Amino acid sequence: DGDPRVPRINAAIRIVPDFPKPGILFRDVTTLLLDHQAFKDSIDIFVERYKEQKIDVVAGIEARGFIFGPPVALAIGAKFVPMRKPRKLPGEVVSEEYTLEYGTDRIEMHVGAVQPGERALIIDDLIATGGTLRAAINLLERVGAQVVECACVIGLSDLKGQEKLGGRPLFILVECE
Ligand code: PRP
Ligand code: ADE
Repeated sequence: DGDPRVPRINAAIRIVPDFPKPGILFRDVTTLLLDHQAFKDSIDIFVERYKEQKIDVVAGIEARGFIFGPPVALAIGAKFVPMRKPRKLPGEVVSEEYTLEYGTDRIEMHVGAVQPGERALIIDDLIATGGTLRAAINLLERVGAQVVECACVIGLSDLKGQEKLGGRPLFILVECE
């Protein structure tokens, strides 16, 4: 929308052609982190949106959801729960498989980290096909949480990722073709 902070956030994201393979335009948020104002603005926009939403838990997706999720959780008074790649978490986990461009991957969450009825916000840096966010939604709903919204810095609109979310709300700072 018309938030005057968004153009600077967009400008701070580096585009790397042909990474990690030919034909991919990689959106690199590490350059956003180098611009203090743009990084702070991206966190502030999320905080302003969710601070009155009674969010109990911010779930962040490995790896880049671990950058944007925790500062939002601290600012809105929510706990932070990491959703990790397979075999990283030491406790008992629930696990969801999802489809990648080639093959499958899996994310896991600790059992007991989220309680039935809790209001959850999922944060990641980017939505492409939506497979990763859908797996995160499934994990949270399997333990009885309510997914209030998914929030990403970047949305790749031509990949139609939102359709995979089954009507659950998605909030994006920067839309890319
Ligand atoms: C990227 C990105 C999202 C996911 C989006 O992570 O950070 O988590 O892809 O893709 P999707 O919408 O098609 O599911 P990646 O799988 O590259 O893992 P990484 O952050 O651990 O490098
Ligand atoms: N994950 C999936 N597609 C991506 C892209 N184009 N840039 C960065 N991360 C991604």
